[in-house]
Amino acid sequence: MENATDAELMQRSLEIAASRCDDITPFVYAEFFKNRPDAVPYFSTDATINLIGRGRMLNFVLDLLLDSAASQIYVAENMETSAFDHVSFGVFEPSLYTDFISALITVLSELVADDWSDAFANAWRAHCKALVDCLPAKDLAEAAAKRHRFV
Ligand code: HEM
Repeated sequence: MENATDAELMQRSLEIAASRCDDITPFVYAEFFKNRPDAVPYFSTDATINLIGRGRMLNFVLDLLLDSAASQIYVAENMETSAFDHVSFGVFEPSLYTDFISALITVLSELVADDWSDAFANAWRAHCKALVDCLPAKDLAEAAAKRHRFV
C-alpha cells in the first residue's frame, strides 16, 4: 500500500485482522492484563458487564484512533472527556492509556502476521501518541493526588 494514508493503513490492517478473528476483545484485554496486571482490579468481574462493557470500550478506542487518523476535529475533546469519565473508575495514569492501545496494536500485528508492516505499525503508533497527547495530564495528576489524600 504505497502512499496510503494512516486512515487507509489502519482500516486495511483491521480488515485483515477481522478476516482472521471474530472478536479481538478478549485478546486485547489478555495482552493488556499480561503487561499491566495492576489494571486488572479496575475492571468488573461480572460476566455480562465484563463481556459487553469491554467490547464497548474497545470499540470506542478504535473509533477514536480511526477518527484521529481521519483528522476529525472532535477527537481531542472526546479523549479528554473520556479521561475525566475514567477518573470515577480510579484511572489516572496516562501510561495505562498508552499500554491499552499498545496491547491493541500487538494483537493486530499478531493477527495480521506476515502481512504486517512498518507502515501499519507507524500509523497505529502515531494515533496512539496523538490520543495520549490529548489527555489532561495535569488535571489527572491533581485528581489522583486528591484521591490519595482521602483514602
Ligand atoms: C482511549 C481510551 C479509552 C476510551 C475511549 C475508553 C472508553 C470507555 C467506555 C466508553 C467505557 C464504558 C463501557 C460501557 O458502556 O460499559 C469504559 C469503561 C471502562 N474503562 Fe475505558 N476507555 C479508555 C481507556 C481505558 C483505560 C486505559 C483503562 C485502564 C484501566 C480503562 C478502564 C475502564 C474501566 C475500569 C471501565 C468500566 C468497565 C468495567 O467495569 O468493566 N479505560 N471505557
